[in-house]
Amino acid sequence: MLRCSVVGATSFTGNELIRILARHPHVKVGTLTTRSEERIRARDVVPTLGKANDLVIEKFDFRKVLRNSDVVFITLPHTLAMNIAGDFYKHDKIVIDLSADFRLRHAKIYEQWYGERHEQKKLLKFAVYGLPEIYREQIKHANLIANPGCYPTGAVLGLYPLLKNDLIQRDSIIIDSKSGASGAGRKLSMGTQFCEVDENFAAYKVNRHQHAPEMEPTLSEIAAEKINITFVPHLLPVNRGILSTIYVKRKSGVKKDKLAKAFQAFADAEPFVRFLGVDRFPALKNVQFTNFCDIGVSVDDKSNQVIVITAIDNLLKGASGQAIQNMNIRLGFAEEAGLLSL
Ligand SMILES: NC(=O)c1ccc[n+]([C@@H]2O[C@H](COP(=O)([O-])OP(=O)(O)OC[C@H]3O[C@@H](n4cnc5c(N)ncnc54)[C@H](OP(=O)(O)O)[C@@H]3O)[C@@H](O)[C@H]2O)c1
Repeated sequence: MLRCSVVGATSFTGNELIRILARHPHVKVGTLTTRSEERIRARDVVPTLGKANDLVIEKFDFRKVLRNSDVVFITLPHTLAMNIAGDFYKHDKIVIDLSADFRLRHAKIYEQWYGERHEQKKLLKFAVYGLPEIYREQIKHANLIANPGCYPTGAVLGLYPLLKNDLIQRDSIIIDSKSGASGAGRKLSMGTQFCEVDENFAAYKVNRHQHAPEMEPTLSEIAAEKINITFVPHLLPVNRGILSTIYVKRKSGVKKDKLAKAFQAFADAEPFVRFLGVDRFPALKNVQFTNFCDIGVSVDDKSNQVIVITAIDNLLKGASGQAIQNMNIRLGFAEEAGLLSL
């Protein structure tokens, strides 16, 4: 069996990867790592592993991970991931990086949005953006997969059928997203402490969130034309899930039926996209702990306003579930392997 390691295994997304990999039918867990000197029993941080599970999370040792891995998942904060991901890639491992370090195609844009020098510029051209619904063919052959951000996943999937089928005005896209607090990771910060998040709801980084420059190139590629978006993220007082409400104007003459058919065809072709129908809308509860992206749509005949609502679990379809989906595609397994009954 192929072996999969997780570098940064104590992270929220790392815990989800352990949970899925431990039950995956075609792979086994290689090495799980932390910065800590102390060995951590994986079952203490991933209780669903059960009391007999003997996996441990141990101090990062490059050579050991190299020896024990065919695939390496990196779940480190951005800017820390790039060199480690680059080293494993150069040693012919399949690398799936959950950070933002290889998602943007141009180092200059990365440096502008993340405020740090990109130290693996030469590798950017080898990285494939790991959104299976759009880049499945490229993922099949990639050894460096840049797993998408959580907000871009929900937003791009909601827009894909509309742009691909040329159904909307392209200068009118507004993405209004709300995320649960696990989106910010395990580290403590002012804005994500319990007392700040609980009973609260607020927008942040309006017009300056780093996921906007990640969405625009993908949307532009789908539309075959430059797309600019307005993106407003919010923090919800829930643990997990992202609900995105997307406002666009339909092109004149485009009927409601045609819009619905485009979404239905997309969902029919994709194992992890569910179209709920016209005037039926997703809820976080229905996607939490799943790898699904649920989509609903409504059209106002008077204003031509189309409203698309998508929901995903940020830690699964927005991170670790999608990373496993990418691994399945890359290794030729069924795309759903390990991802149903989570
Ligand atoms: N959370 C989400 O919903 C989500 C979604 C999509 C993508 N991502 C991306 O996936 C990556 C992991 O996200 P996460 O939210 O799971 O992370 P997290 O919970 O904040 O954990 C990050 C891990 O990185 C390790 N680490 C190593 N050096 C570190 C340093 N100098 N500072 C802080 N941590 C350090 C820590 O493990 P030790 O302390 O044990 O060493 C920590 O457990 C990030 O790049 C994130 O942007 C996250």
